[in-house]
Amino acid sequence: MVDGSGKPGPASGAAPLRTSPRVGGRAVKIASLATYVPPHVLTNADLEKMVDTSDQWIQQRTGIRERHIVDPGMATSDLGTQAAMKAIERAGLTPNDIGLIVVGTVTPDMFFPSTACLIQAKIGAHRAWGFDLSAACSAFTFALTTASQMVSSGAHEHALVVGADVMSSIIDYKDRSTCVLFGDGAGAVVVSAAQPGEGSILDFEHEIDGAGGPALCMPAGGSLQQASHETIDRRLHYVKQDGQAVFKFAVRKTEEISRRLLERNGLKPGDLDLFVSHQANRRIIQAAAEKLGLDSTKVIINIDRFGNTTAATIPLALNDATCSGRLKKDQLVLLASVGAGFTVGSVLLRWSF
Ligand code: ACO
Repeated sequence: MVDGSGKPGPASGAAPLRTSPRVGGRAVKIASLATYVPPHVLTNADLEKMVDTSDQWIQQRTGIRERHIVDPGMATSDLGTQAAMKAIERAGLTPNDIGLIVVGTVTPDMFFPSTACLIQAKIGAHRAWGFDLSAACSAFTFALTTASQMVSSGAHEHALVVGADVMSSIIDYKDRSTCVLFGDGAGAVVVSAAQPGEGSILDFEHEIDGAGGPALCMPAGGSLQQASHETIDRRLHYVKQDGQAVFKFAVRKTEEISRRLLERNGLKPGDLDLFVSHQANRRIIQAAAEKLGLDSTKVIINIDRFGNTTAATIPLALNDATCSGRLKKDQLVLLASVGAGFTVGSVLLRWSF
């Protein structure tokens, strides 16, 4: 296992691990974590009044009971700023200590400037540069890996990773097959160099499969189908998806990428202390965990309270795990995500606080 010294890390019964050559330079850790969801809650009972659905159908098919939704005027940068400020404070830093900001989102405040620029200004991170990263539901794992490499290389001491989405801004609340699934939220972590003996990011694995694009997309508003009265009348500025195709791909790929990453590090699923998957559907998480042979006590599921918040699901799940005591210092954690694109990501780490 990995620590800053390159020596075997904390004992856990798992095979000794060293930082994968993929991580590159010095060891890096998640130094802090914070989340934010808007106060307004949209329940399944509320949705029953909006579309032809039922609390029973939504809970049985997805595991979702309620989700948080922004009030008008609140944007992705507002959610991200709240999480970012808390994460920086919890790391014992100030915004001026941050050298890089990577924001994973599929719902930027606007096409440009980037949400990273907007958050940088709002938090007053005057020494940071940054950018948005588009990988849909895999945005957090992709952004975490990207920022980690920049800290590992020595280019930066501290990087801020934000996963934030206002999915309610691109959801058609007349389409029952999608509107029940999503919620709004944000999570942020500070990535810093790890000291010898500290838990750190061990390895990662990511892939994309552009052939899956049509299965989950927002067709209009970009350069291909520019915004027009016609695209609005045809409701093309909303999420469209082939739910069953996405479901099958997500189950298969979550298992596949998790196994590949574990095997490369000489580990078995049973060596994990915690499996934190993207929260798109409780049945997807449970099916993937079952295929991996994971005990349910090692799997975090909090989709019931938040729905699918896209880039924010993994930090929201990590936050629940730390707050409930299910995730503790030195534990071995696997993050896994599948999202539109398709995008597939996984990060293996030993938790550092
Ligand atoms: N309420 C009531 N009935 C509904 C609803 C609803 N909200 N939505 C669909 N139905 C109906 C359908 O019309 C269909 O009716 P029919 O049999 O009369 O034709 C029936 O329920 C079954 O529909 P399916 O689409 O087959 O239902 P399924 O069990 O596949 O569940 C769901 C649909 C929940 C969308 C599922 O396919 C899923 O979760 N897919 C993954 C997609 C996803 O999460 N994408 C988001 C992000 S991408 C990612 O993170 C991986």
